[in-house]
Amino acid sequence: MNKAEKYQLLLPQIEALVAGETDIIAKMANVAAALHETFGFWWTGFYRVVNDELVLGPFQGPIACTRIRYGRGVCGTSWQQEETIVVPNVHEFPGHIACSSASNSEIVVPLIRDDSVIAVLDIDSTEFGAFDEMDKAYLEQIVRLL
Ligand code: SME
Repeated sequence: MNKAEKYQLLLPQIEALVAGETDIIAKMANVAAALHETFGFWWTGFYRVVNDELVLGPFQGPIACTRIRYGRGVCGTSWQQEETIVVPNVHEFPGHIACSSASNSEIVVPLIRDDSVIAVLDIDSTEFGAFDEMDKAYLEQIVRLL
């Protein structure tokens, strides 16, 4: 199965997983698990905006930094810019926060409610250039379901 086929299969599964559930943490937990298992990413999870920083939320993969400041790292930059950031090589991203030295590329997708970012979806891969416009489009669709 290619990447597009995997996303197309995953989308209705995620729709079903979140349907009828109102607790955002529960939904984030299953979405992280579904994505992680489908694609075999290195790290898949959420950081929530709590007061003035990002705080680690539901995730799959190795332990990670618990707090990230506004504008810091890829996650904090996505929060600040209110848009998805695709990083083909994390070692070249100024201010990248290395939670794990195994990570080589990353995508961060903001979750926007009522015009403000309430969380970000962060995915890391051990491959360089693992994420592209297709991931951006599908992942943006997935976070809108939350
Ligand atoms: N690399 C991220 C930090 C979070 S970990 O990758 C799980 C960043 O630069 O924001």
